[in-house]
Amino acid sequence: MEELRNKYIEAIAAAADEAALEELRVQAVGKKGEVSLKMRELGKMTPEERQEAGPALNALKNEINSALAARKVSLADAALEERLKTEWLDVTLPGRARRQGTIHPVSQVMEEVTAIFADMGFAVAEGPQIETDWYNFDALNIPGHHPARAEMDTFYTHRAEGDNRPPHVLRTHTSPVQIRTMEKTGAPIRIICPGRVYRADYDQTHTPMFHQVEGLALGKDISMANLKWVLEEFFSAFFGTHVETRFRASHFPFTEPSAEVDIQCSWEGGTVKVGEGDDWLEVLGSGMVHPKVLEAGGIDPNEYQGFAFGMGIDRLAMLKYGIPDLRAFFDSDLRWLRHYGFASLDQPTLHGGLSR
Ligand code: DAH
Repeated sequence: MEELRNKYIEAIAAAADEAALEELRVQAVGKKGEVSLKMRELGKMTPEERQEAGPALNALKNEINSALAARKVSLADAALEERLKTEWLDVTLPGRARRQGTIHPVSQVMEEVTAIFADMGFAVAEGPQIETDWYNFDALNIPGHHPARAEMDTFYTHRAEGDNRPPHVLRTHTSPVQIRTMEKTGAPIRIICPGRVYRADYDQTHTPMFHQVEGLALGKDISMANLKWVLEEFFSAFFGTHVETRFRASHFPFTEPSAEVDIQCSWEGGTVKVGEGDDWLEVLGSGMVHPKVLEAGGIDPNEYQGFAFGMGIDRLAMLKYGIPDLRAFFDSDLRWLRHYGFASLDQPTLHGGLSR
């Protein structure tokens, strides 16, 4: 019995893993284990022998079971110890700073423009960037032969051979949203439409994709005077200082009369400053909506009238934030974006400030 004991206690202490332990358990105290077989022999013994061997065998069985359990615990401890050695974590290390993205000046200015016009009761309307030539041209009183079509450097979509429908266009201005809104809601209307527009043009102040914001106000007695007030109010709020405007007679197919609008500026020191000096900068086209345009939008020109305007958002951003080259707007150069971008949590509002 002593031999049996030494053999198993030593083997258990040396067992390398749980599988080895289980094997030892079966060999020693399993149904056909050595200790169990010995216990079966108790029946053949004399009562005296049995009195001595019985408790001894029981004690041996208990001792082996405890040794097995103890070894199991120490194996688990060792395994945990090993894991902790490889999975350690230095909680005193400083955190890794993450660069935050910034709001693009174009997005910033769109939000600013929207906040100012919202305060004057204008809602935001949107339309598709891929337009039919009806919405982009004809409905705006620009017929097929009109020189404005050629001047606009329009991008046309490609039709499959044999498909004779007129091609779609990438909208060359946000004006088609005027027609879409007239159709959708009827008059009265007070909206702005900010969005992307496209023309095949590329230099320091032109990119083939750029941004405009359209304005449209229709009612029973809306006049040029309302247009002038709204625009002066807008420019002064946008530039944060009183800005004089100058209206020059002009021509657009979709307005009659039409006016181009200049804002007061100075060129002193080589950079442009809005709201001071006595130079003028052209920033916008506008006028009273042409009766034919109202008709195209399903609105009776004998009942309703109003003004429209369109201006470049990128231009406004360049002016307000002193950005010299338009092309850099769309290069996605991180250094440029970090320099000219805006903090993402600063929402432009009239009461909280338009920009920081
Ligand atoms: N659509 C014109 C352009 O892209 C801008 C414009 C001029 C819009 C006069 C208007 C307007 O609504 O009345 O150049």
